[in-house]
Amino acid sequence: MTLDLLLKNATLPDGQTGVDIACTDGLITAVERNITADAKQVIDAAGQLVSPPFIDPHLHMDATLSLGTPRMNVSGTLLEGIALWGELKPVQSVDDIMARALRYCDLAVSMGIGAIRSHVDICDDALTGVTALLEVRKQVAPYLDLQLVAFPQDGVFRDPTAQKNLIRALDMGVDVVGGIPHFERTMAEGAASVTYLCELAAERGLRVDMHCDESDDPHSRHVETLAYETTRLGMQGRVAGSHLTSMHSMDNYYVSKLIPLMAEAELRVIPNPLINIMLQARHDSYPKRRGQTRVPELKAAGLTIGFGSDCMMDPWYSLGKADMLDVAHMGLHVGQLSSRADMAWCFEAVTTNSAKIMGLEGYGLAKGCKANMVLLHAKDPIEAIRLRATRLVVIRAGAVISRTPPAIAALGLAGRPAQIDPAN
Ligand code: FE2
Repeated sequence: MTLDLLLKNATLPDGQTGVDIACTDGLITAVERNITADAKQVIDAAGQLVSPPFIDPHLHMDATLSLGTPRMNVSGTLLEGIALWGELKPVQSVDDIMARALRYCDLAVSMGIGAIRSHVDICDDALTGVTALLEVRKQVAPYLDLQLVAFPQDGVFRDPTAQKNLIRALDMGVDVVGGIPHFERTMAEGAASVTYLCELAAERGLRVDMHCDESDDPHSRHVETLAYETTRLGMQGRVAGSHLTSMHSMDNYYVSKLIPLMAEAELRVIPNPLINIMLQARHDSYPKRRGQTRVPELKAAGLTIGFGSDCMMDPWYSLGKADMLDVAHMGLHVGQLSSRADMAWCFEAVTTNSAKIMGLEGYGLAKGCKANMVLLHAKDPIEAIRLRATRLVVIRAGAVISRTPPAIAALGLAGRPAQIDPAN
């Protein structure tokens, strides 16, 4: 039998070297040494790292690439970003959002991203973003898995039509129930919104992914209610808390009670390091808090943690390049995850952990998995993060969908090598 694709001499994220990967009919049919079968296409990995695709568990694709429209965020705060987004929403069309989202998906593919969970704002009676991203989800399906979260940006209770619009969005085919309890008018309303949204998801058999406690206020404790409702409704493993930045500022005694409750609920945790190191602690003098949730402690308690990108060139964040290694790099630094094991874990936080959070089927580099993978210009996951390594080849369903040449500089230095390869 002739294979569709044979990838030779790969290093896998777990450290195995000299591995060949055979692909046929969109699936991986063998992962072993010295595969000799004929193949329509053979790629020599030359001992470099081959990974399953990067997975972004948290993005706002309806806002991405809108930077400067209609103006810039001057204070740099989350709340000015929300206000700015409120100015942009009424003037953007379905076509505007689709054009920006499709360009973002092109970038994401070139950076080896295979799946994205995107929040889509439903606080808009026209549901412009929902209409646009449902169409984008359909168009990109051959090369990118897009999961959509119905996100009530202005508060499911605080916004007068959000409850109705959220249900409309779910009926239209949005996949996951979102929320933003810390933006409701009171702590009590925030907690009630968590209960309402979890019950809605449970009734419909959907997952939950809530913006939760994205605040420097140590008394923002909606994650406690999220864990409670998850356990009460039997939704363990199907509920994610995104951001959770207030945990950074909570006192240690309270956290010593909270984390076991989160573990009991098998709550998924999605920090967004690039954005929260930029947005948090804007009201602090010195010392300034970092504002990232307690990643090492949550990891030690066995919670599944996936780093998300959150934003790229939008009202909240002016930078970004759809690079999940950039996200892992920032998460590693802010969380001081500097041991070899912890650095390697940061690679899992943008691959396998995030795939688990999204519930992706057939993800991985094993026989029977989908033939989706990335060849990186790096020898191992730590080097990939260190270099934010070039994605040399991106493969989807056993076919090459993107190639980028290695970043090797030609030098003009007397007595020195003619070129320098950052990975060697
Ligand atoms: Fe977000």
